[in-house]
Amino acid sequence: MERLKGKVAIITGAAKGIGAATAKLFADEGCLVIATDILDDVKNQWIQQYPRIQYYHLDVTDESNWEKCFDWAVRQFGHVDILFNNAGIIGDAATFGPQNPEQTSLASWKTIHTINLDSVFLGCKYAIKYMKTDGGSIINMSSRSGLVGIPNASAYSSSKAAIRNYTKTVALYCAQKGYKIRCNSIHPAAIATDIWNAHLGTNKAERKRTLQTIIAGIPLGHMGTPLDVAYLVLYLASDESSFMTGSKLVLDGGILAGCASAPSAGIRNQDG
Ligand SMILES: NC(=O)c1ccc[n+]([C@@H]2O[C@H](COP(=O)([O-])OP(=O)(O)OC[C@H]3O[C@@H](n4cnc5c(N)ncnc54)[C@H](O)[C@@H]3O)[C@@H](O)[C@H]2O)c1
Repeated sequence: MERLKGKVAIITGAAKGIGAATAKLFADEGCLVIATDILDDVKNQWIQQYPRIQYYHLDVTDESNWEKCFDWAVRQFGHVDILFNNAGIIGDAATFGPQNPEQTSLASWKTIHTINLDSVFLGCKYAIKYMKTDGGSIINMSSRSGLVGIPNASAYSSSKAAIRNYTKTVALYCAQKGYKIRCNSIHPAAIATDIWNAHLGTNKAERKRTLQTIIAGIPLGHMGTPLDVAYLVLYLASDESSFMTGSKLVLDGGILAGCASAPSAGIRNQDG
């Protein structure tokens, strides 16, 4: 199909998970992809099989990394059309300590916001600088957790909520300036990637039980895949979404379609 033919994309956090699936799909759709991450070993791994993907080291918290990456991409390819601000962390308790509002340390709160949110601010800043002449599409990775409260992931959900609002600001700013840069946020939930590892634990039986609990809360009855998200990002990156900016798109197997107090299927059946 080559839905991204002739376009150049920068994807952050592309070594694995959703970022890697998106990089591969973009390449299959004719895009030249700059896959960035801090896990540099990936350049000798799966990326080797994709001639349209090049690796670039980009720590999303480092402003000079951003400037160098955009500058290199424009010198190499002439333009950058798509930025997928995808890199992020949950802030697992083993590394960052408890994450509820009562016990979260200021240091972990700041680190999680720096990686998840400052990165999006920096990415948008340099995308605007390098895309404002020819236009482009910015896709910011938020989460279902940016739309609802998450008591045990307070810094994560706060950072993702801020991304949702900042996306709208960037979208409106670019529209007002006549830059032809669109900016949208995506809000997945329950996508099977390594980000869940700390929560699932290493004990096989415990992992199975936790997975069953997660799946019980998903109306479609299974977790999503990184490719499910990649197809949504593909739509936002392509010209097919040219009238869409400032939007927030949810991809969650139906989780947010209802609420915890909704009548269960059993009760509905009893009611006939
Ligand atoms: N998996 C889900 O259920 C889910 C749901 C909603 C949102 N998300 C979001 O999707 C994004 C991707 O997560 P994933 O599920 O693929 O997890 P993942 O852990 O597989 O991938 C995250 C990637 O981000 C990279 N990264 C972390 N810190 C970085 C930094 N400072 N600079 C550059 N790269 C860095 C990691 O190296 C890794 O490659 C995250 O922002 C996450 O919050 C995931």
